[in-house]
Amino acid sequence: MTTYITTPIYYVNAQPHLGHAYTTIVADTYARFCRLCGEDTRFQTGTDEHGDKIAEAAARENIEPKEYVDKISGMFRDSWPVLNIAYDNFIRTTDVEHIKVVQSILQKVYDKGDIYFDAYSGLYCKGCERFLTEKELVDGKCPDHQVEPQAITEKNYFFRMSKYQQQLIDHINANPEFITPERYRNEVLSFLSEPLEDLCISRPKSRLTWGIEMPFDKDFVTYVWFDALINYLTGLGYPDDEKFAKYWPVAEHVIAKDILKPHAIYWPTMLMGMEVPLYKKLHVHGYWNINDAKMSKSVGNVVRPAELVEEYGVDGFRYFALREMSFGLDASFSHDSIIDRKNSDLANDLGNLYSRSAAMLVKYCDGVVPEPVDQQPSDKELTDLAAKVVSDYKQTMGAFEFHKGLQAVWELIRFANKYIVTNEPWALAKDEAQAGRLNTVMFNLAECLRLIAMTIRPVMPETSAKMAAGLGLGENDPIVSSLSESAGWGMIPVGTKMQEIDVLFPRMDKKKEQAPAEKPKNQKKSAKKEQVAEQDDLISFEMFQKIDLRVAEIIAAEKIAKSDKLLKLTVKIPEERTIVAGIAEHYAPEDLIGRQVIVVANLKPAKLMGVPSQGMVLAAKTGEKGAQTLVLSAVSETVNPGDKVA
Ligand code: MSP
Repeated sequence: MTTYITTPIYYVNAQPHLGHAYTTIVADTYARFCRLCGEDTRFQTGTDEHGDKIAEAAARENIEPKEYVDKISGMFRDSWPVLNIAYDNFIRTTDVEHIKVVQSILQKVYDKGDIYFDAYSGLYCKGCERFLTEKELVDGKCPDHQVEPQAITEKNYFFRMSKYQQQLIDHINANPEFITPERYRNEVLSFLSEPLEDLCISRPKSRLTWGIEMPFDKDFVTYVWFDALINYLTGLGYPDDEKFAKYWPVAEHVIAKDILKPHAIYWPTMLMGMEVPLYKKLHVHGYWNINDAKMSKSVGNVVRPAELVEEYGVDGFRYFALREMSFGLDASFSHDSIIDRKNSDLANDLGNLYSRSAAMLVKYCDGVVPEPVDQQPSDKELTDLAAKVVSDYKQTMGAFEFHKGLQAVWELIRFANKYIVTNEPWALAKDEAQAGRLNTVMFNLAECLRLIAMTIRPVMPETSAKMAAGLGLGENDPIVSSLSESAGWGMIPVGTKMQEIDVLFPRMDKKKEQAPAEKPKNQKKSAKKEQVAEQDDLISFEMFQKIDLRVAEIIAAEKIAKSDKLLKLTVKIPEERTIVAGIAEHYAPEDLIGRQVIVVANLKPAKLMGVPSQGMVLAAKTGEKGAQTLVLSAVSETVNPGDKVA
């Protein structure tokens, strides 16, 4: 079996956010799942780099469009490894090969008469990059972008989309899995029940130069779906490369509902016009909102994937994204919901199962997988459940119901935790006569861990590898990496030697400060400044200069009553001040006297546990999340208290 899975190619007018990350994690998980099932799999993502919005973004930054797209495309490319996204191909619409293919397709469709030149008046939405019909407007505005579309009349090239309307309806009716989930298929069929208009596919160069030139008219560029959608073919070396012959017939696209129409209507009709077979499936998911509100730059609640990885770990984030959203429906993100999932599903259920089982294997079996000699009828409940879980998992993951696939695996995890309680290995260990039974119970637990390591592999590759290592198995041992070969019960070899690994998922504390993405923006920056900060994650030198960093000498330190974490420090900078620091778990007060540390001296005063604090002591956080140690900042030689740090 062969699979070709794609994400949309993302516009390079903004940095990657939670929405882009979700789609890409979905495609990556599906690609990994298909590989787990032994399929020859190709996964493509990339960036969409032509068009008005991008030319405008470059102009705002005062740089050439090419320089601008190189930069932002690089940000997308760099952000994917952080999420453990392993694509096979990253396509850019500014790639020379892509441009050539788009032009040759345009010429072919033009030559056969499916592209014509005509005057057009319409209501154009810049956000959607297309003309909208009156019917689509809500209160005269584009429902997606909340702006009134512009009335435009100009001569342009059109693709005869209407010609293929019936053929498309027939195809959708004959192939129920062409567009899923079903609600989106119904939406498309309902749209197709009205006459389809032809598609405007050009812009005069007088209005836009940043696009692919029409091969039959140098005064026009193509715009923009006729450029972007074709990426799915050019990434396979269309038309002559063998990759095209191999992967195109099994192409599956993942998108969100915002670009349903271009993918479910423009693209298949374009393929008909090009005389290329249609893709196999379109998988459509819903939208992530943030605390139930729309994610938007102006509200200041845009969630950045890198920050989530930093905070919750790559697997914590990947698990949350796939478990929390029912594929096809909208979902709401909040820091509390991700912490809840991490604590309950990952730390409590999976983490505990692993650590308890591994500890008992070490204690009772010298860390070696024992031989099961005494399977009891009650064990059949476990082995039957494992078989059912693997079968449900395969079916749901293959159908893009990732939340259900994970639910199935968690059924096994929770059952295995109960299995420990009902079988009481600690009691069996006290009775010599029960040695065989103890070995069987421990073997069954090791086998559960193997099946869990294998089934979570597409979603949490890092944790899966860690568990495999803990079980003394190589990351790519077929018994943890091949569902086609090793889905049955009892495959972990007797005699396998366990290895010690770190805690899988430390618990997280909910009462910490809100992460930046949830805080509303309260300062108005100028558009230009915001753009730069947005794109670079950089602050200006002026901004840095506003932070008053000083060397402070600690002259007194004491614990704060009722707090495990806080110390009250008296420092000289050179005047005396009180600063409350969260270092009580890492430093004894008496060890701090005389130390020189770096402080932020112009932080707004605050009260912590009733003690006024005028500044912040800087320290490095080191070690694994949840088990971090704080190491105080220092200067390498003694200096005068109050000296500036710059
Ligand atoms: N360039 C076009 C796609 C061309 S594909 C031939 C485009 N780019 S985009 O940058 O706007 O990306 C849209 C896609 O980003 C959505 O379809 C979805 O995959 C993802 N998401 C953007 N915001 C999202 C949410 N808030 N929630 C979920 N996914 C979202 O459209």
